[in-house]
Amino acid sequence: MTILEDFLKTHDAGALLDIACGGGAFTKRLTENLKSYTSVLGLDIKAESSDGFFEAVKGHDISFISASIHDYLETADAFDTVSVSNALHHLEGVGEVLKDVRNILNEGGTFIINEMHCDNLTPSQQTQRDQHKFLADLQRAAGEYHRETWSRSEILEFVANAGLRIQHTYENANEDAPITKEPDRMVERAQTAIEKAYPAGAPNSVNTERDRLAARSSEIGSSPPPQLTLVCIGA
Ligand SMILES: C[S@@+](CC[C@H](N)C(=O)[O-])C[C@H]1O[C@@H](n2cnc3c(N)ncnc32)[C@H](O)[C@@H]1O
Repeated sequence: MTILEDFLKTHDAGALLDIACGGGAFTKRLTENLKSYTSVLGLDIKAESSDGFFEAVKGHDISFISASIHDYLETADAFDTVSVSNALHHLEGVGEVLKDVRNILNEGGTFIINEMHCDNLTPSQQTQRDQHKFLADLQRAAGEYHRETWSRSEILEFVANAGLRIQHTYENANEDAPITKEPDRMVERAQTAIEKAYPAGAPNSVNTERDRLAARSSEIGSSPPPQLTLVCIGA
């Protein structure tokens, strides 16, 4: 099995929870490739994600709940399969969250973790890492929890400490992904985040970093980060 889809095609997922599902890109990848499932629940702190989620995820018994995973875990049902994609760096106290998620896995349940990481980056991936950190810092300054990308070893440590055992590991270095040399969208997003974080005016250092990242993006480009995917069971 070299890619996640190889595993999904063999997996009867039962009741599935996709944590921090956003617009459903990863949920779609699951539902389109799983051998079977009985129900799918997408959970995201942002209620406005639901429109994109229902547009992206087609199938039977699909539902969405708007909640923080921290609140949801206080009264959560149990699931046969739980997934979380590219959101570990959005979850405050992620180590404890993963331990609590393990406790809502039914006997023999599966936990699929897909997360970008910051190891062995190409120059264009380094641009993406820096842009992501810049936006995450601004969002944190505005009160939303978001941090820079974890390393591979940090992700593996969270998993081990949560009492999860890895059954399959998939690596996607994303080295050949297309490189974008168009900074306008990043600058637009950064500007919105800067105004939210610093309504009375941003420090010079913030504007300088925005300009550095825009210049780097035009010169070197930006490209998607490497992804680590782990299929785990309770240890
Ligand atoms: C980078 S997106 C990932 C979306 C999706 N999982 C994917 O891979 O396409 C991170 C998502 O985490 C959600 N999120 C952040 N904090 C959360 C929390 N405490 N509980 C639930 N969702 C959260 C955000 O709203 C956002 O949709």
